Amino acid sequence: MKKINTKYKIFSLICLILFSVEIYASVAQTLLEKFEKETGKTFSAEKGKEFFEQKNPKTGMACVSCHNRNIKKPGKQEVLFGLFDIEVPALSVSANKKVFQSTKKVLKELDNYCEKVRERVCTSEEKGNLIMYFISN
Ligand code: HEC
Repeated sequence: MKKINTKYKIFSLICLILFSVEIYASVAQTLLEKFEKETGKTFSAEKGKEFFEQKNPKTGMACVSCHNRNIKKPGKQEVLFGLFDIEVPALSVSANKKVFQSTKKVLKELDNYCEKVRERVCTSEEKGNLIMYFISN
């Protein structure tokens, strides 16, 4: 009886892990499909990387001003005139299981930070390239 119980626990754990991986992959995947439908284009991780690292010439601000250039690692954002640092999440879908859990949140943050960095909303094509970059790295 005890043996069956352990097997069952292991089985449940494996199911849970597989299911979780599926959720993270599917938020990014759902977004890609949405942007693909909107633009009729396929996206480029390379262009996404370029966009992520490019500075706004007017302000010198880029996504990598806070996020790490190595998207598998967390970045830092200085607050209160550099007195404190807060951790900025790594955006690689495979490296950070805490991001890409909610489609709504990702869309909100993309709009929020595009506005901050680019002083405009990003186009669906730019967002598609970004997600492709976060998925492929
Ligand atoms: C001023 C610092 C800063 C800049 C600049 C910045 N980000 Fe972020 N970003 C953050 C922080 C902090 C979070 C975490 C927010 C939270 O979870 O409440 C975040 C979260 C995100 C998320 C959500 C991840 C998730 O699923 O939880 C995405 C996507 C994102 N940023 C993309 C970008 C992109 C693209 C740019 C450039 C256009 C950018 N960020 C620029 C600080 C920044």
